[in-house]
Amino acid sequence: MENFITLAQIDAIKDTIQRQIKETPEFAVILGSGLGHIADAVEDAITIPSAAINGWPRSTVEGHSGKLVFGRMENRPVMVMQGRIHYYEGYPMDQVTLPVRVMQRLGIQNLIVTNAAGAINPDFVPGDLMLITDHINMIGMAGLNPLRGPNLDLIGPRFPDMSQPYDKNLSELARRISREQQVGMREGVYVSLSGPSFESPADLRFLRVIGADAVGMSTVPEVIIARHGGTRVLGISGISNKANLDGSNITTHAEVLEAGRVIGPKLEKVIRGVLKLA
Ligand code: HPA
Repeated sequence: MENFITLAQIDAIKDTIQRQIKETPEFAVILGSGLGHIADAVEDAITIPSAAINGWPRSTVEGHSGKLVFGRMENRPVMVMQGRIHYYEGYPMDQVTLPVRVMQRLGIQNLIVTNAAGAINPDFVPGDLMLITDHINMIGMAGLNPLRGPNLDLIGPRFPDMSQPYDKNLSELARRISREQQVGMREGVYVSLSGPSFESPADLRFLRVIGADAVGMSTVPEVIIARHGGTRVLGISGISNKANLDGSNITTHAEVLEAGRVIGPKLEKVIRGVLKLA
């Protein structure tokens, strides 16, 4: 048996954080590549660098600063995580998803996950938002499921339901806000791969056939852990690039970060609207 993170280890991190914050956040927000500046909108902010938390895995990726910001947005108590951990950085899945476990033990019941994603759906263009209506757990389907290992019975069941990963009410609210504020949000299925290499044209044609609209290297493990513990999830992708189905263009990390500048303000509108009305 390999070593997996225990509830005691999760709770030790939870205690470290709890000592420093004033109130339990109602919502956690995980900000994807190039979207970190949304954390600047938090009022009365208490910032905890994740490097200062014993046992918190360190993000090694440009565009992921690794800060936790606690405070208020639209007068709701929030925890905003600027920068996440990815499997491709070399961490095992229980470390990748540790932040979500800590959120759950802090008592946070709602999670807004965001990411930068490549468009597989030919109608999508860089700068679009996409409401995640469902996902394909490509990275976990054949082994890398974040729930592998001893089940944390206190948090959820061994075989959790995954029939509705993304919360209907929160999603409907996000739709309404983007309609009213003319953000122009798309909808679709997100597929997670391990990365860090981008996809080949044949990879992408395959992903299109199996029903994916957008592709990325994160999010799904976090959502599975969230749902295991009954946390409600809203998922939004920022489309950073067109996936390269015919091999005619190349995808770069710089392009992903650049698109974040267009996507950020739209995403902030939707997040603010959800926080205000949920
Ligand atoms: N592929 C995988 N992950 C991504 C992409 C992509 O094209 N864009 C942003 N993250």
